[in-house]
Amino acid sequence: MKGRFHPTNNQSVNPSGNESILEVIERMGMKRRRFIMTAVGTSVLTVLGDVTVSGFLQTVEAAPIPAGTGFQGIGFESIQPNLLNSATGLLQKDLVSVPSGYKAEVLVAWGDPIMPGAPNWLVNATQDATTQEKQYGMHSDGMHFFPLNSGVNNSGIICVNHEYTHEDILHGSEGLTPVNIAKVRKSQAAHGVSIFEVSKTRLGNSWGVERNSNYGRRLTANTEMRVSGPAAGNALLKSKKFNITGTGSVQIGVNDGFTAYGTVNNCANGYTPWGTYLTCEENWNGYFGHLGETLVSTPGIPDSEITAAQARYGISQNGSGYRWHEVDPRFNCRTNPLEPHLFGWVVEVDPYNPQSKPVKRTALGRFKHESVQYVVDDQNRLAFYMGCDERNEYIYKFVCSRPFNARNRGANSNLLDDGILYVAKFKDDGTGEWIPLVHGQRGLTAENGFRDQAEVLIKTRQAADRVGATMMDRPEWTAARPRINGFQEIEIYCTLTNNNRRGTTPASVNNVNGTTTAGSARPPVDRANPRTDNRYGHIIRWRETGRTVTTATFSWDIFLEAGDKRRTEPNLRGNINGDDLSSPDGLWFDNFGRLWIQTDHAGDGKGDLTNIGSNTMLCADPNTKQVRLFLTSPTDCEVTGVTSTPDGRTMFINIQHPGDSGTPQNPTLSSNWPHSQGYGPSGRPRSATVVITRNDGGIIGGL
Ligand code: FEO
Ligand code: CA
Ligand code: CA
Repeated sequence: MKGRFHPTNNQSVNPSGNESILEVIERMGMKRRRFIMTAVGTSVLTVLGDVTVSGFLQTVEAAPIPAGTGFQGIGFESIQPNLLNSATGLLQKDLVSVPSGYKAEVLVAWGDPIMPGAPNWLVNATQDATTQEKQYGMHSDGMHFFPLNSGVNNSGIICVNHEYTHEDILHGSEGLTPVNIAKVRKSQAAHGVSIFEVSKTRLGNSWGVERNSNYGRRLTANTEMRVSGPAAGNALLKSKKFNITGTGSVQIGVNDGFTAYGTVNNCANGYTPWGTYLTCEENWNGYFGHLGETLVSTPGIPDSEITAAQARYGISQNGSGYRWHEVDPRFNCRTNPLEPHLFGWVVEVDPYNPQSKPVKRTALGRFKHESVQYVVDDQNRLAFYMGCDERNEYIYKFVCSRPFNARNRGANSNLLDDGILYVAKFKDDGTGEWIPLVHGQRGLTAENGFRDQAEVLIKTRQAADRVGATMMDRPEWTAARPRINGFQEIEIYCTLTNNNRRGTTPASVNNVNGTTTAGSARPPVDRANPRTDNRYGHIIRWRETGRTVTTATFSWDIFLEAGDKRRTEPNLRGNINGDDLSSPDGLWFDNFGRLWIQTDHAGDGKGDLTNIGSNTMLCADPNTKQVRLFLTSPTDCEVTGVTSTPDGRTMFINIQHPGDSGTPQNPTLSSNWPHSQGYGPSGRPRSATVVITRNDGGIIGGL
């Protein structure tokens, strides 16, 4: 319930979509303050005179930072890992822990109401899809905070991805079996994105969700979306059109190639400098399957081409166990074989306009998108850096054809539709090449399976196979180092989370003709992926030549190799510059140049994780590579998603799939979080967003 004294909400920062950035700053009351820039280049700074702005909304109050280093240091001491308690077989603490002087509080958890008319969550998980469509989804992942003008550091809109569902915990004591359309609709409603308003309440000075805000919105696996960019309207996108209701999906025609329904497996995210959210579709293949039907042919396309393309993206008969295809024919990959082409994209949504239709931006390619990180260079040219998360997949960048316009938000509305998609080749001499994926070049021709540019984008993986991109150890998040206080390079970091096939036998690589089944190759080590059986992962970084995003070349090095320093096997030994970690995944620079790393491993403290324990968030110094442990998590979860208020004094992170080994009959088998941290009723673990603040009100991670 909104407090009586709370400032009026529901004010859009930019309802028209055409307001200039100067007007926005003026209206936000920020003119008299000083700001530092992050990823946006100095020409934007020049345009705005003495007010320097990092993008449309990623403004930040300047703090005194020593010149020349671009980095302020890490202001906390490492905490202890949350290790296995051998007596209980569980972790020592079923808690989120942070350094002394900091506070971690749950803001919102799976099932909580986030929009008008939404009821409270029930611990027995018996609520239906209609209810779930108004509540915070399951398994939170990437997210971003968009400030509101009622106080940019005290109120905003948060967009949170909901990557997937735990079907045993979602459906109450019955679990998923027997599967039926009601359960599948609930599962679909728990996917997608939650968009909701948050604010610091006047009484108590703590953060809460404005449950009746008109910004409250859910995108689900069934939300209607627009398809734009070079692949829009292509024949491969004209899948069956269904009337989607609570009782089933009935075919009513054929889609036009410009319309899609739903977004799924929204893993990591990005945002644009004009204040829109980007949600990325990762393991979407797992929602498709078949029941042994014969493939329905597509006129003009050989069946073998469709089947091979499904294999390259990892589509299989049983999928990942969601069983949607058993009761929802839209997700049958044999009878509706073009529907998978409508997934695997980056989706743009305007959080400030609840009526806006999300847009699937095909120019950014179709793969298992992890995150998308933008950079604007000194010429206002704009690029987005992305990883495809599967073993032996690739790193990409998309360069917009037109420059970013900092003065006119509306002028940027279609920037993501026109540009060049590149894939990275990391060479052993420490240099690299961005290879353009352009039809007609480098073998991307009709005779090799690419009829036009639309097909290059729909078959991005096969196009990258063809041009000889470097197979990486599962590219997860990308992050751009802020260009502040004398640091002028365009430097991008990418987590390579692990790869249990690198350097194993028999050796093989992704076939140049695109016929490799997803994740099946066993490439040898190379300098960019130097470890056999890379269980713990590493972080790579590169600098764009000439400080431009349009360059075709870069130089690179390995920022750190994760692992356990106490291991004697050289291949498994950990970070030499500080605390150990395993399976780096989430990656984010704060506005002051600190690199935050989040991990995603089994999270149980067993086996390879004996000395590492739970999943964690760590803070790294990009200059010295020093790494300190900032946060440990409850049992059987990952730490993912990170954003902050512009002043850096409130951080938001997500805990995903706590108590993952729970069952329908015993959901709290390994965790009762967040109840164990004082939030909500006991009896069912829930993914949640956590607010982190400092007791002294200081900058998170700061001195
Ligand atoms: Fe959903 Fe690649 O992490
Ligand atoms: Ca991830
Ligand atoms: Ca991961």
